[in-house]
Amino acid sequence: MYRTNTCGELRITDAGKTVTLAGWVQRTRKMGGMTFIDLRDRYGITQLVFTDEADAELQSEAAKVGREFVLQVTGKVAERASKNKNIPTGEVEIIVERLTVLNQSQTPPFTIEENTDGGDDLRMKYRYLDLRRECVRKNLELRHQMTMEVRRYLDSKGFLEVETPMLIGSTPEGARDFVVPSRMNPGQFYALPQSPQTLKQLLMVSGFDRYFQIVKCFRDEDLRADRQPEFTQIDCEMSFVEQEDIIQLFEGMAKHLFKTLRNVELSDFPRMTWHDAMKYYGSDKPDTRFGMRFVELMDVLKGYGFGVFDNAAYIGGICTKGAATYTRKQLDQLTDFVKRPQIGAKGMVYARVEADGSVKSSVDKFYTQEVLQQLKAAMQAEAGDLILILSGDDANKTRKQLCELRLEMGSQLGLRDKNQFSCLWVIDFPMFEWSEEEGRLMAMHHPFTHPKAEDIPLLDSDPAAVRADAYDMVINGVEVGGGSIRIHDPKLQAKMFEILGFTPEKAEEQFGFLMNAFKFGAPPHGGLAYGLDRWVSLFAGLDSIRDCIAFPKNNSGRDVMLDAPAPLDQKQLDELMLSVNPTEK
Ligand code: AMO
Repeated sequence: MYRTNTCGELRITDAGKTVTLAGWVQRTRKMGGMTFIDLRDRYGITQLVFTDEADAELQSEAAKVGREFVLQVTGKVAERASKNKNIPTGEVEIIVERLTVLNQSQTPPFTIEENTDGGDDLRMKYRYLDLRRECVRKNLELRHQMTMEVRRYLDSKGFLEVETPMLIGSTPEGARDFVVPSRMNPGQFYALPQSPQTLKQLLMVSGFDRYFQIVKCFRDEDLRADRQPEFTQIDCEMSFVEQEDIIQLFEGMAKHLFKTLRNVELSDFPRMTWHDAMKYYGSDKPDTRFGMRFVELMDVLKGYGFGVFDNAAYIGGICTKGAATYTRKQLDQLTDFVKRPQIGAKGMVYARVEADGSVKSSVDKFYTQEVLQQLKAAMQAEAGDLILILSGDDANKTRKQLCELRLEMGSQLGLRDKNQFSCLWVIDFPMFEWSEEEGRLMAMHHPFTHPKAEDIPLLDSDPAAVRADAYDMVINGVEVGGGSIRIHDPKLQAKMFEILGFTPEKAEEQFGFLMNAFKFGAPPHGGLAYGLDRWVSLFAGLDSIRDCIAFPKNNSGRDVMLDAPAPLDQKQLDELMLSVNPTEK
């Protein structure tokens, strides 16, 4: 037997027992004739002692042990003289009688402790060592608990877990596909699924009724803190349901997860239309932990000779409570913030409400106190508040810039507490959005999304105004999931493809399998997919989803540990009939 106990379980009540432990050396210390070693495994850390009474051979063995050596020790559990209240095993130590070095270790490239000296790149290169750190391991433990809870919950509601293939066909809508060449079909390619969307719909045609899958999805898109090229969805689909049924069931699941994993009781989630989310927050995933809703100021501030506002298509402001104390320097920094190329505003106007109620603005020479008082009223500002205003010639772009400013102010004022959760549904998404790149309307969610019944007549006359039966769940400004009711009528689906610019031939080529299936009795159906990585990072209070993925990619989509992607041998390329290796061009 390698061990009788783990390094996390011995307590004062075990004193006197003879035990065998196995684990890694976190740290060694010499004090006089004594040697102390902290032995670590997945479960915790236990202190080992080699006393000055131990025989000389044992003493000299202990002296040779270095960081991250793998040891097996046998000894007696004893009460410690100086107790460590910070760890559960801190009241005991093992008086070692026998030591076996199971394996040696090179000195690790960074310290394997909570506050490590290893930078991001180094930790990713040696991710298997990084994963030995408790704070990283904890995130994966939480991930495991979450998937267990999800399976339990969905099983209890009658959902069946069904696996769908990873090698499928490429689809033109959505993000870019990762493609895989086929040796047996030269010149032809599989694509890795961006989501099992069409397959889960086919399962509904098969009568599976309630499906789920915890599944890897692949998207070749620009990466951010909450985006990885491969990520995991909790993908679900149901038959004979309406939007309300899906919202109820998955809101129930969200509440269940909060209760079981974070011990947080949530009340019913508010719902906000996409239109209101854009109008009041400039985002389809508003962070509603704090207020600062946008107020449109076109009526209040236009027409007083201030050219920037007079020529603007949109003027909007936010009122930041108690921030009138912001100094000139802080305001200049905020102006620089919104002028950064990533945000792209031309400038920022501010107005402080003084203690006596008067308003002092950065554009006082254009506005009388009377107009500034109207501004104050419109913003519902009070003494001590700071009003920040952006304008621009493109309303949507300006709203997005104001959204960034709002989030920045929320952060600066400490209003984005990671232990506070504000959940909502964003509903009534537009069916289509205009793509500058493609020069055509694209499906905002995906081409299988059902338009709102009352908007179907607009499909011909004003498609851009059509709203969809589509919904996203948003928590603290993060889109944690989204879904829709699907089209099950082949005629409506064909119409949708037509609006999206597909010829009937092209639609047949790309989606013929689905349209054909729908000719054999497709039930009304709909579903949703949660982003597992985003849920776990939210629960764990992480800044990036990378930290809850065992072996993540970096921001350039590289796995620096495996050094992937990498060029292929010519032999392999030849076999795949891929003639050119671009890196050798
Ligand atoms: P959608 O594209 O909205 O919908 O994806 C569902 C959820 O998956 C998560 N997500 C991501 N997480 C990490 N990295 C990424 N690159 C990434 N992309 C998406 C988000 C998102 O809300 N088939 C539909 C779902 C449906 O209609 O049922 C779909 O994939 O949390």
